[in-house]
Amino acid sequence: MTGTSLYERLGGEAAVSAAVVLLHDRLARSPALLSFFRGVEMRDRLQVHISFVMTAFGRAPEGRPRDLRSAHARLVAEGLGDAHFDAIVAAMAEVLDELGVEGTDRDQVLDHIESTRVEVLGR
Ligand code: HEM
Repeated sequence: MTGTSLYERLGGEAAVSAAVVLLHDRLARSPALLSFFRGVEMRDRLQVHISFVMTAFGRAPEGRPRDLRSAHARLVAEGLGDAHFDAIVAAMAEVLDELGVEGTDRDQVLDHIESTRVEVLGR
């Protein structure tokens, strides 16, 4: 399909919502990732997940997203590193599989996430 954005091809808002729920379930089962969300209110956690999925789907998050470097600076100081980043990428890959996102669309989503590594980890 030409002329359709990745976000639209993946199913737009409905797909974002489904991905957020699936991602949230996965993070809730991962103590290593969950520890970084301690002290973040549930409402704000959901906002982080929505922003994350929007970014991954190639859409700027709505509202007033902070830049990724400053949003994660405190977490990096607390030990956020490549292993955690890899774990989130792996979680998102599983979510895409569950949603039936395949081929170049799947690659593009994972590439979008990968492209944020330098900023998220403050390098
Ligand atoms: C992989 C790429 C990542 C992207 C694209 C991303 C995206 C974002 C965005 C956009 C925000 C700001 C949300 C807002 O203020 O509206 C945020 C905050 C946050 N992210 Fe990430 N994130 C990523 C990786 C991670 C990782 C690996 C972790 C930890 C397991 C993490 C945990 C958090 C937490 C806890 C916050 C809230 C920080 C606070 O409010 O003090 N993120 N993320």
